[in-house]
Amino acid sequence: MISSETIKDALKKVAYPGFTKSIVDFGFVKNINVNGDNVSIEVEITSSAPEVADQISGGVEEALASIGIRDYKLNLKKPKMPRESSSHGKNIVPHIKNFVMVSSGKGGVGKSTTTVNLAISLAKQGKKVGLLDADIYGPNIPRMMGIVGVAPEIIGNKVKPISALGVEVMSMGSLMEEGQSLIWRGAMIMKAIQQLLQDILWGDLDVLVIDMPPGTGDAQLTLAQSVPVTAGVCVTTPQRVALDDTERSLDMFKKLNIPIAGIVENMSGFICPENGKEYDIFGKGTTEPLAKKFDTIVLGEIPIEPAIREGGDAGKPITSEFPDTVTAKRYEEAAKKLWEMIEKINEEGGVDNEAIQPTIGVPGTENAGKSACSV
Ligand SMILES: Nc1ncnc2c1ncn2[C@@H]1O[C@H](COP(=O)(O)OP(=O)(O)OP(=O)(O)O)[C@@H](O)[C@H]1O
Ligand SMILES: [Mg+2]
Repeated sequence: MISSETIKDALKKVAYPGFTKSIVDFGFVKNINVNGDNVSIEVEITSSAPEVADQISGGVEEALASIGIRDYKLNLKKPKMPRESSSHGKNIVPHIKNFVMVSSGKGGVGKSTTTVNLAISLAKQGKKVGLLDADIYGPNIPRMMGIVGVAPEIIGNKVKPISALGVEVMSMGSLMEEGQSLIWRGAMIMKAIQQLLQDILWGDLDVLVIDMPPGTGDAQLTLAQSVPVTAGVCVTTPQRVALDDTERSLDMFKKLNIPIAGIVENMSGFICPENGKEYDIFGKGTTEPLAKKFDTIVLGEIPIEPAIREGGDAGKPITSEFPDTVTAKRYEEAAKKLWEMIEKINEEGGVDNEAIQPTIGVPGTENAGKSACSV
C-alpha cells in the first residue's frame, strides 16, 4: 500500500501555476487520505481562475501517475473569491486568502488608524492577519504599531514581516533609515508595492489589510492589478466636503472592480473623557446615505477620542491598549462586520458588473499619469 508521505512527495513536483514553489510548499494540499486502494486528496487553492484549477488537476494527475496511481479522488476546493476581480485572476501572493484595501479620497481622515485597529481586532477574533503599509510616501504604520527602529529579519533575498500585536507587519518605513524620505515616480511606486507583496515572507494569511496613501493613484492601481482585492474599505469623516472625496474613492473601487465592504465614519462625534458623553462636533451619521448609494454599509462610527491619537503616536493602538473602551468595541464590531462582508463577497463570487480593464495610469500608455477616477 502506498503511503500518504509518498503521495505528498510526488505532489511536491506540482508547481503552482506561474510559480516555482509547489502546491505542497504553499500549503495548499490540505489532506491526503489512503484507505486500501482508495486515495483521496484535498487541495485548496486561492485563485478562482479556471485555468489555475485545470493546470493543478493536470499536474496532480501526472504526479500521481509517476508513482503508479491512476485511480484517485481529487477534491479541488476553489476559493471563496471574487469571480470577477480587479486583477483578473492574477495573484502574486497566492497563499494570502483575502486582501482588504483601506482607502480614502482625502488625506488625514484616519486611514492608517483605522487599518491598524481593524487589523488588530481581526487578529483578536482569531484570524491570521497581515498589515501592509502601502503608503510609500508617508509610511506611518511603524509608529502606530510601536515598531519604529525595529529592523526586519532578512532571509536570503526576502524579508520577514515584523510581528507586532498579533499581526504580521511590513512597511517601507521599516526598510528605510528613520527620517529618510524618498522621491517616488509612478513606475517606482508600482515596483515598490509589488515587492512589498512578493518579496516579503508573508505567512498563510486569512487576510492582508492594506493601508493606502490618500487619493486614487498609482498605488491603488498597482495593488488592484497585482492581487484580487477582495474588498475595499473607505474611511471618511462626516463633513460634507470629506464626503465629496469619499464618493470619488468609492467610485474608484467600482472602476477597479473591487467590491466595497463598507465605509468607516471616523471622527464621528466626540466622547468626552471627563464624563463619557458623546458630543456631535463634525457631524455624525452623514455617511449612511452614501453607503446606500453605493449599495454598501457603514462598518462603524468611530468617535474623536484622545486615546486614539495618543495611542497612534505612542505605538499603543486603542484596541490593544484599552480594549474595554467604547471606541475599541466599535472597532471590534466594525472588524466583525468587515469579516462578514468578506465572507458574503466571496460566497457571492464577487461583483456582477462587467469588469473594467484598469489600464488607467500605467506608464507608457496614453493614460499615463491619469488617476483612476479621472477616466
Ligand atoms: N477617531 C480619532 N480620534 C482622535 N484622533 C484620531 C482619530 N482618527 C485619527 N486620529 C488622529 O488623526 C491623525 C491622522 O490619522 P491617520 O494618520 O490615521 O490618517 P490618514 O488618513 O492615514 O492620513 P494620511 O492621509 O496622511 O495617510 C493621527 O494623528 C491620528 O492619531
Ligand atoms: Mg495614513
